[in-house]
Amino acid sequence: MDTKILVLEDYISTGKLSETDREKLKEAAAVIKNGGLAAFPTETVYGLGGNALMKDAAKKIYAAKGRPSDNPLIVHISDLKDLKGIVRDIPEAAGLLSERFWPGPMTMIFNKSEAIPYETTGGLDTVAVRFPSDPVASLLISYAKVPIAAPSANLSGRPSTTSAEHCIEDLSGRVDMIVDGGSCRIGLESTIIDVTGREPVLLRPGAVTKEMLESVLKMEVIEDAAIKGPLKGGIRPKAPGMKYRHYAPKAPMVLVAPKAAGHTAYVADKILEILRERQPEFKKIAVLCSEECLKELKEKADGETDRADIRLTGSRSDTAGIARGLFKHLREFDEDKADFIIAEGYPEDELGLAVMNRLKKAAAWQLIYV
Ligand code: TXA
Ligand code: MG
Repeated sequence: MDTKILVLEDYISTGKLSETDREKLKEAAAVIKNGGLAAFPTETVYGLGGNALMKDAAKKIYAAKGRPSDNPLIVHISDLKDLKGIVRDIPEAAGLLSERFWPGPMTMIFNKSEAIPYETTGGLDTVAVRFPSDPVASLLISYAKVPIAAPSANLSGRPSTTSAEHCIEDLSGRVDMIVDGGSCRIGLESTIIDVTGREPVLLRPGAVTKEMLESVLKMEVIEDAAIKGPLKGGIRPKAPGMKYRHYAPKAPMVLVAPKAAGHTAYVADKILEILRERQPEFKKIAVLCSEECLKELKEKADGETDRADIRLTGSRSDTAGIARGLFKHLREFDEDKADFIIAEGYPEDELGLAVMNRLKKAAAWQLIYV
């Protein structure tokens, strides 16, 4: 299949959608409405969009990603009015959260209406719904005049894509169209919260943090067990996608994280210890760490850091910056053919919970607390 790439040139250079850009979005919207696939940017990551009301579109999405078809898709809307048609009921908690966080990087689970085929929900009676704030995504959805089912636009098992370049790398030849709208502002997938039960449950952490959800709901939000640790045999995560080994670079990876906020000073010591231990064994060790950690490493190292491939996540104090660049780094480890990766971990509060969830999965839960 030939994949047509539509570059939103004016939007990328000025931040505003010109008439030419809009025409391109109309073209992509028509492809989706008529049953084809188009990848597009959102504020979180790129999505691989198809018509959420068509069974065959869902099947095509699973095939393009190489994704197991029991893994449900998120349905994207561009107007709160569109919610009623696709869900059976709107719980009170959903009303409160949508008022505060939609449009934005938050997905909620609802009981699905008959309009949504089981192919879209991987056979579940529930549907995940998101109302993105990104102007490209929301205009595309409104032009399509149908809800758009879109998983992250990456091959199954690879990190989500946060730029058109990465999206093209994974999906060129597998979808009808890719809309290039530049880099994604947040860089991690949306927060997923299940509001169908008596207690709200956080299924996947994201930029709308657990703390933010709790402050609106004025109650505790339960964290699904799959967020912080590997699931013990037999237990299923509530979001089926959380069970797959996501985000994983090809090389083995170990994560060194502080037990408590005051323990960051021990992280560099441990990274250096691992470097010393492993350098004789591996040709190319990559280290993913903050500027602060690198400074500490350099002060203590005796040439070890010169031999390592250091990648900077940014400043420890800028968790949003760390989140934005994370998937790009994880992809680059493969390109650079790193054969062992050591990554710095961060405290698991606020956005740190989402960053650590992705890092832990990338490391296949190989985690050392110091
Ligand atoms: O930021 C995002 O959410 C991006 C952009 C494109 O919107 N999309 C995204 O989709 O990350 P995907 O398919 O890569 O991840 C969706 C996650 C999966 O873990 C899936 O199992 C879960 O949402 N999910 C979808 N429907 C669900 C449902 N009905 N119940 C529980 N989990 C669900
Ligand atoms: Mg995904």
